[in-house]
Amino acid sequence: MRQKFVAGNWKMNLTLPEAQALTSEIVHMLHDELLSPAAPQVVICPPFPLLSAVGHLIGDSGNPALGAQNFHQKESGAYTGEVSAKMLHSVGCQYVILGHSERRQHFREDDELLSQKLKTALAAGLRPIFCVGESLETREADETFAFIGKQLKDGLFHLSNEEFEKVVIAYEPIWAIGTGKTASSQQAQEVHAFIREQIAGAYDAQAAANTSILYGGSANAQNARELFGQPDVDGGLIGGASLKSRDFVEIIKSF
Ligand code: 13P
Repeated sequence: MRQKFVAGNWKMNLTLPEAQALTSEIVHMLHDELLSPAAPQVVICPPFPLLSAVGHLIGDSGNPALGAQNFHQKESGAYTGEVSAKMLHSVGCQYVILGHSERRQHFREDDELLSQKLKTALAAGLRPIFCVGESLETREADETFAFIGKQLKDGLFHLSNEEFEKVVIAYEPIWAIGTGKTASSQQAQEVHAFIREQIAGAYDAQAAANTSILYGGSANAQNARELFGQPDVDGGLIGGASLKSRDFVEIIKSF
């Protein structure tokens, strides 16, 4: 059985006191629920300066786990202002988001860079949450599957079977991110099923069956249950709604 996930991507939001208040509320509202074997794996991904404080508040039960939003592809060295994967691991991160459309778009992260980052993350003991997703133009041109197939092939499928086992995939249609326009559960399901088929082709049926594929893009407490009810949707990567404790907890309870 593959793992269910709800990951919160805080993006560039919240100060330290705000992050502490939000984390305490989430931890308080969930009580011991996340210790049940049926619970989804929750991952909280704050900005760098807040990682340690949030990590301290979520504790070391493993659920919730701590994740980061980015790092530099080199292991260490003279890269002023950058953060390494090893540093993230050393402050308690277990996951890192990679290939988010905001980083592809605003920071020009391409498949080659993402391939290097994947290797660096895995070598440092971080599990990548690898994002793919099409723009509205691509969808309207009926090129969604070709586009996502290429993102997977060029960015991800160079990993060995053993490396690939550590990867979580997130399908985030760009037109749904922060827009309030969620993909319908049918649109999400058909892309998730396509991603699973591609994994089966690149690796094998076992790898396809075991890989968690999350949906992201205006997911919220109202639509999570229907999205998570789709056979190939294994959870969500949540932006805006992860900044509100009640909404985030409702999403977690949607399974
Ligand atoms: P929203 O949930 O705010 O649309 O953001 C989704 C996202 O980009 C998560 O990584």
